Amino acid sequence: MAASCPIGVFDSGYGGLTVFRSIAEALPQYDYLYLGDNARAPYGNRSFDTVHQYTLECVEWFFRMGCQLVVVACNTASAKALRTIQQNDLPRIAPQNRVLGVIRPTAEVIGNYTKTRSVGVLGTKGTVNSNSYQIEINKFFPDVKVHQLACPMWVPLVEYGEYRSPGADYFVQKYLDELLAYAPDIDTILLACTHYPLLMEKIKKHLPDHITVVPQGGLVAASLTDYLQRHTEIESLLTRKSEKRFFTTDDTADFDNHATNFFGAMVRSSHLHL
Ligand code: DGL
Repeated sequence: MAASCPIGVFDSGYGGLTVFRSIAEALPQYDYLYLGDNARAPYGNRSFDTVHQYTLECVEWFFRMGCQLVVVACNTASAKALRTIQQNDLPRIAPQNRVLGVIRPTAEVIGNYTKTRSVGVLGTKGTVNSNSYQIEINKFFPDVKVHQLACPMWVPLVEYGEYRSPGADYFVQKYLDELLAYAPDIDTILLACTHYPLLMEKIKKHLPDHITVVPQGGLVAASLTDYLQRHTEIESLLTRKSEKRFFTTDDTADFDNHATNFFGAMVRSSHLHL
């Protein structure tokens, strides 16, 4: 067994840090490795095969680093790669390890937020086209109408640090208006992309007050807490020195500059060449 067994947290870029932040707040005792595949981000418009290949490469790296539990904190990768990894790759490469995603923990509870039974789901093209949210939410809440919309400009705005700029308002308003024009009864909007919480201020600004905007971090952290209580065979392997290490496949100075905003604390990353 490896000397250190951190929890791996993965995203195509910075977005997963919004989820990692909530996980680390809820479960501060464990060790963590975060990997942002910034060099190949965004994943949102890429094909199923490409997202699977990239995500699997990153998951295999986490395993080599001693992680036995990896959280894919990216909706695009959860939608397009997770099932194949869980069903086809894990039994072959590491049957004892676990890889979890962000879609199921969100779908399990989102129906509790809506009174009108009408939920808007905003995500990348990849997440929306996979239809994963529609399918998963209706498993738990068959009466909830799910209205999905891809917001392809939002990840680039966030990745390039433009999420507070006046230009961002245009694209935030554009997609929200589009969503509400075709489903005016929506009272809950799920941010089904881990990058979108950075746009929260602007999203709220362009929405009427009665609409609740739900980011995923807290939902995923609560679900992981519950998972670890139920899976003591995994939980007992995790090391507990409260260490957090950050890796990026792109420039570290750039990563550290942006990452601090997403994570809410100073980040110092190392470069990873995959
Ligand atoms: N953060 C990812 C998600 O949750 C999307 C970013 C990307 O397109 O790479 O979907």
